[in-house]
Amino acid sequence: MGDLIQRAADDLKKSLHVVVLTGAGMSTESGLRDFRGPKGLWTTSKEAEAKAYKRYDLFLRGPGAYWEEMLGKKDTHGAFYHDLRKAEPNAGHYALAELEEAGVVKCVVTQNIDGLHPKAGSKNVIEFHGSVNKLRCHSCGSRSGFEEAALEILPPLCHCGGVLKLDVVHFKEPIPLDVMRRAEDEVAKCDVMLICGTSAVVYPFAGLPRAARMDRGSEAVIIEVNAEPTPLTDDGISDYLIQGKLGEILPQIVEAVLKRG
Ligand code: APR
Repeated sequence: MGDLIQRAADDLKKSLHVVVLTGAGMSTESGLRDFRGPKGLWTTSKEAEAKAYKRYDLFLRGPGAYWEEMLGKKDTHGAFYHDLRKAEPNAGHYALAELEEAGVVKCVVTQNIDGLHPKAGSKNVIEFHGSVNKLRCHSCGSRSGFEEAALEILPPLCHCGGVLKLDVVHFKEPIPLDVMRRAEDEVAKCDVMLICGTSAVVYPFAGLPRAARMDRGSEAVIIEVNAEPTPLTDDGISDYLIQGKLGEILPQIVEAVLKRG
């Protein structure tokens, strides 16, 4: 493991534009469950997964009922979002914020809706699947804070008259264009990609490393840090996998990059 950590540190130090991609594995050490790991939400409840696939359709058909569910009055999913809002970053999140502060990491593109990267101090964060801390107008696309939202009357409406939904991107919902463009721009610029805590099976996010490999060939260095191999490992998209816990590995990479300890 030590060699791979040193190798990753050397690759990051040589890089001109490091882009970090993250998934739910970043937040399990903050007490939040992932989806497809051994104790994952979908692994342990096919019913919950089936409901998640119907959520966007529920919004389109009945935004009032959608909001009842999002505010956890009816079942646990609203309560799940509530827990996300209360969570705190872990050593892995702080390590990435430190690498950005040191000018090494240029951007974090995350699938996580928990807002823990910005909470840990990361500045240039693209929330690819949105955030539980924000609302988004389904008509004009403008975003606003969840805490400030007037949720007495459901569904809440935007100043443009459009219906507000949680900013979270549900299954079958298109990724907002502004988010997709920003992510593609960052991937086009990146020469080192550090992929943390994702099973890399959900598209279009899982297509970003493949696009980087396609566009830049062997010029791009793609590093995975994850508890287990993924299709990116198996398909040879990543150059190497550092297998283990993010909260332990990322701080060691920071130490090696910043030559401390
Ligand atoms: N350290 C390293 N890896 C970890 C850790 C950890 N502490 N905890 C979990 N992992 C790994 C798991 O083994 C798994 O391979 O992180 C990965 C998490 O994968 P998923 O649960 O599939 O999460 P993610 O890839 O983010 O899911 C993508 O699917 O359900 C939707 O919208 C949801 O954004 C999510 C998307």
